[in-house]
Amino acid sequence: MSQFAAKSVCILGRQPTLGLVELESLYGAEQIKPIKHGVLLDIPAGEINFKRLGGTLKVAKLLNVLPASDWKKIYKYLTENIPRHLQHVPGGTFTLGVSLYGLELPVSKLNTDLLLLKKIIRAQGRSVRIVPNKTLELNSAQVLHNKLTRRGAWELLAIRNGSQTYLAQTFFVQDIEAYAARDQARPKRDARVGMLPPKLAQILINLAVGEIESAVGSRQSAVKKLATSDLGLKTTRALRVLDPFCGTGVILQEALLMGYDTIGSDIEPRMIEFSKTNLDWLLPRFDVQGSRFEIFQADATNHKWQQQFDAVASELYLGRPLSELPVPQKLNEIVQDVNTITKKFLSNIAAQIPKGTRLSLAVPAWRPNVIGLTYHKKGFVHLPVIDHLTDMGYNRIDFVHVKNDELIYFREDQIVARELLVLERLGIRD
Ligand SMILES: C[S@@+](CC[C@H](N)C(=O)[O-])C[C@H]1O[C@@H](n2cnc3c(N)ncnc32)[C@H](O)[C@@H]1O
Repeated sequence: MSQFAAKSVCILGRQPTLGLVELESLYGAEQIKPIKHGVLLDIPAGEINFKRLGGTLKVAKLLNVLPASDWKKIYKYLTENIPRHLQHVPGGTFTLGVSLYGLELPVSKLNTDLLLLKKIIRAQGRSVRIVPNKTLELNSAQVLHNKLTRRGAWELLAIRNGSQTYLAQTFFVQDIEAYAARDQARPKRDARVGMLPPKLAQILINLAVGEIESAVGSRQSAVKKLATSDLGLKTTRALRVLDPFCGTGVILQEALLMGYDTIGSDIEPRMIEFSKTNLDWLLPRFDVQGSRFEIFQADATNHKWQQQFDAVASELYLGRPLSELPVPQKLNEIVQDVNTITKKFLSNIAAQIPKGTRLSLAVPAWRPNVIGLTYHKKGFVHLPVIDHLTDMGYNRIDFVHVKNDELIYFREDQIVARELLVLERLGIRD
C-alpha cells in the first residue's frame, strides 16, 4: 500500500465527527487522516468535490508544514515568504485573510501583526488589503464576501497539530448563501415533520452512496456504469437513491443536486404534494443536470417498490416533536411507537434489496439529560431495534475514524436528536 502523503486539508463543521465520517465514506479511510483541527487528505484540493460535502466548511491546498507551534515563529515565516510569493501573483491590489486554528493569541495581536505584514508587503511595491479578523478564524461569510478563493486573493490557514503547524490555502468555502437559497426559499416547509438541514441530507446521501462512488473511482460524476440486467449487460445511468420517508423532500432535492436520480415515497398524501411542489420549484432554478425523480404515496412498512434503486438515504419517522421531555412512561410510549415503525420498515425493505445495498438512516435518539432533568443522567435513549440489526439481516457499518456512538446530530436545545445508522444488507441475494 502506498504511503499517505497529505495534499489538502479540510476544516470541518459544527459536528466534526459527521464531517469526518462523510469524508471517510466518500474517499476511504486510508485517504484521510484526522488531526486536531481538521482532516488531512491524500487528494489534491482541486479534485475534492466540495459542493457535495455537507460536513466540511473549507477545503485548502496544503502549502507547507512548519516545525513550530507558536505564532511568533509562524508570523516570521509569513513575513519572509508572502512578499516573495506575491511576486508570482498578477498585479493589482491583493487581498489577504488569515485564519488560525489551535494557536493561542489575542485577536488584537493577530490584527496588529497582519497590519505590520501589510506594511512589509507595501514596502516592496505591492498594494495589499488585509481582511480584519473578528476571531482567530475567518468564517465562511467573510471568506465568501471578500472573495478570498478567487484570483488575486488568499485565505491562509495555519492549523496547529501538536508541535507542528500546517500552512494551507483555501480553495473552497461552504457556500452558505446557496444553502439558504435552497432551504428557506423552498415553497413548502413543515416544522411538524422536522426541518432536515440540507447539509445533513448531503451527509446522509454520501454515507449511502460513498462506497459505490469510491468503488467506481470517479469522484466527479454521479453517472456510473452499473449492471442492470441478469444478462450482465452494462449501461450508463445515474445512481438512483430512494427516500421512503421523504416528507417535504430535502433528501430528494440534495440527491438531485448531486446528479442522482431519486425515488421518494411517504405515507401522507400532503407530504407527497409538498415534495412535488418543492422539486418542481427546484428544477428550473438549480443545476440538476437532467436528473429525474419519481414521487408517490406509500407506506414504507409494507410497500413493494417496483423501481430499481442503488441506495437508501432517509430521515425516518422521528415521533412527534417535543419541546420538553415527557414523563418516563410517555417517553417510553413514543420510543416503542417509533421503534415499531422502524422495525417494520427494515424488515419490509430487507426482503426487497440485494446483498450489500446500503441504507443511511437518520433515526431519533432522545436526550433526557438536557437542562436539569432528573432521570437518565447521561447519554441518549436509543431505539431498541438498533441492538437487533444483525437478526434483521443488516450489518451496521463500522467506520475507522469515527465510532458509531459519535454519529449523532443535535443542537443543544433539542430533545430529539438524530442518530445516523449506516447499514448494509447481509444475506445471500445478489
Ligand atoms: C422526519 S419526517 C421526514 C422529513 C423529510 N426528511 C423532509 O425533508 O421533510 C418523517 C416522514 O415519515 C413519514 N412517515 C411516517 N410513517 C410512515 C410510513 N409508515 N411510511 C412512509 N412514511 C411515513 C411522515 O409522513 C413524515 O413525512
